[in-house]
Amino acid sequence: MKTILSFRQNEQIRDLMAGTGFLPELAAVETKLRAILSENCGAVKEVSQYLLEAGGKRIRPMLACLSGRLLNADFEDVVTCASAIELIHMASLVHDDIIDNADTRRGLPSINARWGNHVAVLTGDFLFARAFRLLSSARLLPVLELVVDAIEAMCDGEIEQSLARGKCIQSEALYLERIEKKTGKLIVASCSVGPLLAGSEPIKLFSLQNYGRWLGYAFQIIDDILDLKGDSKTLGKPTGLDLSQGYFTLPLIKLVHHPQYGSRTGELLDRLPGDPAALQELTSLLEDSGAIHAAQEEAKMFVEAAKEQLGVFPSSNATKMLASIADYVLERMH
Ligand code: IPE
Ligand code: IPE
Ligand code: MG
Ligand code: MG
Repeated sequence: MKTILSFRQNEQIRDLMAGTGFLPELAAVETKLRAILSENCGAVKEVSQYLLEAGGKRIRPMLACLSGRLLNADFEDVVTCASAIELIHMASLVHDDIIDNADTRRGLPSINARWGNHVAVLTGDFLFARAFRLLSSARLLPVLELVVDAIEAMCDGEIEQSLARGKCIQSEALYLERIEKKTGKLIVASCSVGPLLAGSEPIKLFSLQNYGRWLGYAFQIIDDILDLKGDSKTLGKPTGLDLSQGYFTLPLIKLVHHPQYGSRTGELLDRLPGDPAALQELTSLLEDSGAIHAAQEEAKMFVEAAKEQLGVFPSSNATKMLASIADYVLERMH
């Protein structure tokens, strides 16, 4: 637990972690991550230690552990699945930073910035391998299946995003489909850990999966807004990357379709990259046109939908915490 709390995180995540005080599973996840990443020697060990040091918000393990608590799933199995999911998430970030050419992550130089792309590709692969090793017991097969689906979807979503780079003709529906694949599915898998391990009734599994699905949309929409207007120091990762790489995220899609500002936006986009004045005007328009606000409102709607799904369960510390995570996603600054 100490490792997470001592990570350069802001007050928000510290408060959120404090709310999970009733969840010893989370401390056990940290211990497990430390153990599984320390079982190496040589260069892999150095990179693994670095990754551990960098920390992270641990939202996915939190969701997995809370779903386990809610359904009384086996403690050790929940911890194993939650740790595997965090490893997969870490792997996806290591690979994502190569794709996005991002030089910081979790407040430290990214693996690609520090060791180069070759080491980063292999580090990501290594993390995937360790995650599969954790999930390789027969009891955990249902979780493994969902996790594998999530990884496939994640790759599909990232490939779609890459192919769509710089293409202005993009719809909100396509954007939502893409973020569900790239971010939502792993969050859904995290929320499914408890009901899958406990063999719960379908309604409980579906409700938690829907909670995760709505939460996933909100999570990525807010991430995309933070890329446009967040503070890179607080975020621990670069901002402005999506625009500079030609990724059309929700606020920009809303601006492109704006009845008043749409055509001007098209002109400005044609001048990118390479025209700082166009970038400046576009950034102001995103705020002034209400496009960012509209995206925020959409995320809010998803968070409300996520919280509604919790109505299936009697109120408990776990349901309250799941509702707080949903609220936090909306207010998060990093
Ligand atoms: C970042 O995820 C990648 C996205 C899906 C937006 P997190 O914001 O959960 O990253 P960490 O784990 O806290 O660094
Ligand atoms: C999420 O997209 C990446 C993954 C799902 C791996 P982003 O590219 O927006 O994530 P950040 O902003 O780099 O964390
Ligand atoms: Mg990225
Ligand atoms: Mg982002």
